[in-house]
Amino acid sequence: MITSSAPFSAQQFASKITGTGSGFPKRIVTNDDLSKTLDTSDEWIRERTGIRERRISKPADPNERNSSLALRAAQQALEMAGKRPEDIDQILYATVSPDTLVPNTACWLQLKLGAHRAHAMDINAACSGFVYALTMADQSIRCGLAKTSLVIGAEVLSTFTDWEDRGSCILFGDGAGAAIVEQVPGNSKSRILSTHLGADGRLWEMFHLPAGGSNMEVTPEVHAAKLDKMKMKGREIFKVAVKTLADYAVIALESNGMKADDLDWFVPHQANLRIIEAVAKRLDFPMEKVLLNIERYGNTSSATAITALDEAVRDGRVKQGQTVLIDVFGAGLTYGSTLMRW
Ligand code: ACO
Repeated sequence: MITSSAPFSAQQFASKITGTGSGFPKRIVTNDDLSKTLDTSDEWIRERTGIRERRISKPADPNERNSSLALRAAQQALEMAGKRPEDIDQILYATVSPDTLVPNTACWLQLKLGAHRAHAMDINAACSGFVYALTMADQSIRCGLAKTSLVIGAEVLSTFTDWEDRGSCILFGDGAGAAIVEQVPGNSKSRILSTHLGADGRLWEMFHLPAGGSNMEVTPEVHAAKLDKMKMKGREIFKVAVKTLADYAVIALESNGMKADDLDWFVPHQANLRIIEAVAKRLDFPMEKVLLNIERYGNTSSATAITALDEAVRDGRVKQGQTVLIDVFGAGLTYGSTLMRW
């Protein structure tokens, strides 16, 4: 079941991204660093994933908490958009690694940022979270609930990583991305054109975190059995990811009467470079037009696409009038895409 926003319906309002930002921890952990404690190598990780290094938060450092990384990203996005914290009506915070379950991380960020007018909530859709949150922002803005939304994708997944599982720990990194999304007239050329969401709970076992929710308390025994760490079936996810990302790219393009040739930039979820290359091949889309940052940051879950987009906006690759497709998948399983004209 796919939920899509109607791309061509005449509406009074539309939304567009007017500012982006990123925040990463200082500490760089290279593949060679990992191979000191793990039976792996730089060569294996690079060849199988495209990852060279990742950033990992220092657990005790309050400046490297999830909401602290998001704060830096949000401040950059506000500056680019020429907005102040008090202009924000809504904070939609995509994360699966919250500072605390209660209050939500969106409220921690609201406090740190001083965005006291905003309503604030977390959205859990794993690596698809940014597109889910962006979709909610787009819909809120079109309906008039908000004029200015702050959309965050931010994770400190290192807390939930089993650092002895070489099949998964080599993939992940910590980081945050932010977008300011503003109301524009419905007929604006530069706007979000359409969004498309999907999920399949039947595939929950491919990637899950057994303990830490109300299903299973984290007792010393549970912790010792590492049930409070992420479990992943890498090979199975790989196949589903390639198919789903390709399908959702096509859905977004066809909904707007476009072909892959009409696209200027493709921003896929960055879980594994080989997944991205396989999707680009399926779409017959050149890798030169794919925005990537996986080599330096690994899989930062909900932060991957927005941080890759932020880099390209800042260095001038993404220009006004260009078409940009964000395409994601994640645990749940969840997936989604959004097509926009910059
Ligand atoms: N270093 C060295 N050898 C390794 C490592 C490692 N880090 N990890 C696994 N191996 C070994 C395995 O033990 C296996 O050895 P064997 O043949 O002797 O049994 C061999 O390498 C091949 O293992 P595979 O699992 O088949 O390796 P694969 O090429 O599939 O790569 C990987 C594994 C990188 C995990 C890949 O499957 C992948 O990226 N999958 C997608 C993961 C993903 O997208 N996760 C996130 C999705 S959801 C979200 O983002 C929240």
